[in-house]
Amino acid sequence: MQILVTGVTGQLGHDVVRHGVERNLNVTGVGSNELDITNEKKVNEYINQLKPDAIIHCAAYTAVDKAEDDRDACWNVNVEGTRNLAKAAKNVDAKFIYISTDYVFDGEGSSPFKEQDTPNPIGYYGLTKYKAEEIVKQELDRFFIVRISWVFGINGNNFIKTMLRLAETKSELNIVGDQYGSPTYTFDLSKLLIDMIQSDKYGIYHASNEGFCNWVDFAKEIFIQNQNEVEINLVTTEEYPTRAVRPKNSRMSKSKLIDSGFRTLPKWQDAIKRYLEELNQEVK
Ligand SMILES: NC(=O)c1ccc[n+]([C@@H]2O[C@H](COP(=O)([O-])OP(=O)(O)OC[C@H]3O[C@@H](n4cnc5c(N)ncnc54)[C@H](OP(=O)(O)O)[C@@H]3O)[C@@H](O)[C@H]2O)c1
Repeated sequence: MQILVTGVTGQLGHDVVRHGVERNLNVTGVGSNELDITNEKKVNEYINQLKPDAIIHCAAYTAVDKAEDDRDACWNVNVEGTRNLAKAAKNVDAKFIYISTDYVFDGEGSSPFKEQDTPNPIGYYGLTKYKAEEIVKQELDRFFIVRISWVFGINGNNFIKTMLRLAETKSELNIVGDQYGSPTYTFDLSKLLIDMIQSDKYGIYHASNEGFCNWVDFAKEIFIQNQNEVEINLVTTEEYPTRAVRPKNSRMSKSKLIDSGFRTLPKWQDAIKRYLEELNQEVK
């Protein structure tokens, strides 16, 4: 099976390519240098030549705060880029995985959002990711939309790396404690995505490590496991304003994964443990 992976220079794409190769699949990973997904002509040429059986589309404009002021760039990558890839996938009859986000939901209430709940994004990044979901649904029959949240992987910046860096110089931190969701370790997710693309269980999925937490719980667990002594002060979203509004409730139900017979991801605390080991291995 020939698989094209976008976003190889990012967190998720890097691990998806790694796992695909480990499973002896014929995987080609591209970053924006090799293939700018906003260039429709180049996307068509590239995909018509490669003729992949499947595309795992991990590339995105992911700067959530910057997106509020840099709307054209965010729209071009997330909406037009996904449209270009989906149309090209249709031409060569490739299966398609589109990676989406918890930020398509408005974060109201405290129940986990179900796969079939209607998105209602409250920020511009979330809006573009939702528009792209709609395009994938319109253009393709053989698609997976996989919504993920609070991502961390070896190849890029994320909340864990930021906490570890801050712990080197600070003994006290203010962390937002009223936004709830689930971290997603790209190592775990990429195994699932490789399983998924080899199946025909199409549809919309939620996928993240098991269990829910807020950012204070997340930070505390990192510091306990890494043996950092940092005092954490819980602050509210209102006390820590950011350019983009973030949903307070990012909990997502994973029932579609279970019903379809896919294995759920390990607990988020276990994912942190293995990620810290992976980071330490890299340092050695
Ligand atoms: N990070 C999170 O917390 C989070 C949460 C929920 C959902 N997601 C979604 O998960 C997916 C993976 O996120 P991530 O954290 O792995 O992203 P990331 O580390 O920020 O990497 C983004 C990737 O997109 C590529 N890209 C950007 N503009 C491009 C363009 N014009 N043409 C081709 N490639 C382009 C980048 O390539 P270059 O570096 O080569 O430019 C890079 O490889 C995305 O769909 C994101 O929306 C992320």
